[in-house]
Amino acid sequence: MTRSQQEAKSTLDIISHSSAQTQRLGMRLGELLQGGELILLDGQLGTGKTTFTQGLARGMGITEIINSPTFTLLKEYQGHPVPIMEPVQNTLPKQPSSQQCISPPLYHIDLYRLENPEEIIDLGFEDYFFSSGVCVIEWADKADLLWPKEHLRIRLKMMSETKRGLVLTATGLHYCELLQQFQKNTYATTSS
Ligand SMILES: Nc1ncnc2c1ncn2[C@@H]1O[C@H](COP(=O)(O)OP(=O)(O)OP(=O)(O)O)[C@@H](O)[C@H]1O
Ligand SMILES: [Mg+2]
Repeated sequence: MTRSQQEAKSTLDIISHSSAQTQRLGMRLGELLQGGELILLDGQLGTGKTTFTQGLARGMGITEIINSPTFTLLKEYQGHPVPIMEPVQNTLPKQPSSQQCISPPLYHIDLYRLENPEEIIDLGFEDYFFSSGVCVIEWADKADLLWPKEHLRIRLKMMSETKRGLVLTATGLHYCELLQQFQKNTYATTSS
């Protein structure tokens, strides 16, 4: 990969008007994840990081209840069998085929109680960042020096009791493509 591909960057701003909408946004992203992605979530208490992750997990086909892993730092959700999506006569939209594959696992990490970024290394969490699972990190800015260069960062801001601003920034070609597809899918569904 060339330097310019690694340094590719793109940004998307969205306003969510309800927790259901934030979950739906998470779901749209989760549907696109293939494994190996790193999603960094930042924002003050109660801005919706866990709410977004709940939707993301649903989009990945995970049915367990997702709650904040604050006291354990990490929770792991196994992948599930999902139908392989195939284009019908080479046209969109894709349809589920009779074949199945296993979706990647989700590693949900919450660094709220982290005091020193080095703890992450001591706990062996680094292995997860380079695994074939999906890593979602709440309070990622507590360990900003550690993250691989390519990732998707989502900053959430409280705008009112029910309104949140989300700024999604993709770094690296794969994440830029992911964000572009997410934008397409999100606008295709919110306008209906
Ligand atoms: N537009 C919105 N998006 C997300 N959550 C919303 C929204 N409007 C209201 N809420 C409420 O805000 C709260 C968000 O809580 P959540 O646990 O997801 O935040 P968090 O960022 O993970 O907090 P923490 O830093 O404590 O982990 C929930 O009670 C949710 O119902
Ligand atoms: Mg949380």
